[in-house]
Formats: sequence, C-alpha cells, structure tokens
Amino acid sequence: MEVIIRPDADAAAELVARIIAKELRANPHLVLGLATGRTMERVYGRLVRLHRKEGLDFSLCRTFNLDEYVGLAPEDPRSFRHYMNEHLFGHVNIDPRNAHLPDGRAADLEVECRGYEAAIARAGGLDLQLLGIGQAGHIGFNEPLSALRSRTRAKALAPLTLEQNAEVFGGADKVPRRAITMGVGTILESRRCLLLAIGAEKAEMIAKAVEGPITSMISATALQLHPRCTVVVDDAAAGRLAGSEYYRRIFATEPEWEEFRGLK
Ligand code: F6R
Repeated sequence: MEVIIRPDADAAAELVARIIAKELRANPHLVLGLATGRTMERVYGRLVRLHRKEGLDFSLCRTFNLDEYVGLAPEDPRSFRHYMNEHLFGHVNIDPRNAHLPDGRAADLEVECRGYEAAIARAGGLDLQLLGIGQAGHIGFNEPLSALRSRTRAKALAPLTLEQNAEVFGGADKVPRRAITMGVGTILESRRCLLLAIGAEKAEMIAKAVEGPITSMISATALQLHPRCTVVVDDAAAGRLAGSEYYRRIFATEPEWEEFRGLK
C-alpha cells in the first residue's frame, strides 16, 4: 500500500483524476470500477474537464460501479445510476452500454448479483477500482462484518451509513435499508485499487484502514492485502496517521510519482 498526502481536497482529487487519466490513456479498453458519494464529485468534475480540454477518451472503456440501493429505479434522482449520469456519464463520450451498475430493482437479487460478477469476469476483470471510505470504514457498501472474501450481494446498511446518507433522502429513516454491493473479495481481485478520502471526519477511519489490524469490522482494512493499492488523502484526512512523515517522503522521492508531484 502507498499513502499519498496532498495539501487539500482539490489537490488530492486532482491527483486521483490524473492517475485515472494516465491509466485510461495507456489502455483505452480499461475496465474501471467506480464509486459514488460526495468525495467522488471532485474527481468526476476533473475527469469531465480532462475529456473536454485534453480529449480524454472514454469511448472504449467499460465501467462497473461498486453499488446501488435496493428498490431504486435508475431514473430515481437518489439512485447511484442517476448520480453517475449527472456527474460523469452524461458529460463524457462513454458508450452507455459499457457503463454498468447493479440493478437495484431486479426481481431476483441473487441472480442479479451473480450476473454482475459474471459481467466483470467477461470484461476480463477490473483494471482499476476507484474507492471512497465511509464513516463506518466501509468500501462499497461492505458494512461491518463483511467477509473478506465476500462477492457481489445484497447487504443491510449499518446505522452509521444510513446517517451518512440521510441528507439525500431527507432523513436516515428514509434511506433504503439494503444495497447491492461488490464484495470485498471482488474489490481485492481488481488489478489496482485507488482510494480517495478527504476531510477530518475521515481521519480516524483512514488511520485504522492503513495502519490498524485487518478486520471484517472495517472492510477498508482488507486493502492492506491488495498488491497494488494507492490511498490518496488530504492533510485533514491524514491527521491521525502515525507514519505520515514516511509516506510523504516516499511520494517526494519515488520515481513513479515524479510526474505527479507538481500537480496543484
Ligand atoms: C459509494 C460507495 C461508498 C462511498 C463512501 C464515502 O459508491 O461505495 O463506499 O465511497 O461511503 O462516501 P462520501 O464520499 O460521500 O463520504
């Protein structure tokens, strides 16, 4: 795992967008795992800008989102499909047939989840999985006690997650109780993971995810098992990391990061 600390939220999001753009330029057929949430809005805004200003091409790439609420139709403004259309798909040249999310309204959720895993496998597996982290320490909607080998499935949302998403639904009691989510095992099979966290409210979970013991209570800790995981945080989200000076030195000196160091 590598941890990159940027001075503020914009610089952190810019770095994440530039890493994605580099991967996409190197492989136009990239299979990209996507996340939703407030954190990702900054990243998608930048990807849209790169598409418009630098011709970043999404026409051949395939995307698979991490999750979707059970029971919400794609056109529901609170659905993740709607979020993705608003923030990314509607503004870049992605082929809509290549932009996948689980169907939260599937009649048979088990069949839907198996089909989603099969579609990822048919695409050749995920090349790059973009991740946020919830206040309950989840990646995707892998709530506390999610098995480290779990696959795509319907999962009950934890109370803290309901709280975290209450605003969108007008109250925690109105948030759907379940979501379909890629499993921890599904995420760990991606060839590269890229997690972005910003803000002081993520600092404790980031410290646990990066430096704490691996536990199914905090699914983000499973990323320590991943052979190529990059965690990008702003100063505020890095606030509780014991090893931050070491992580800063790696970013300042390792050749891999040279082209990214000057980014604002
Ligand atoms: C959303 C997802 C979640 C979010 C996490 C952070 O698709 O998978 O794990 O990434 O809850 O959400 P924000 O960015 O809103 O704090």
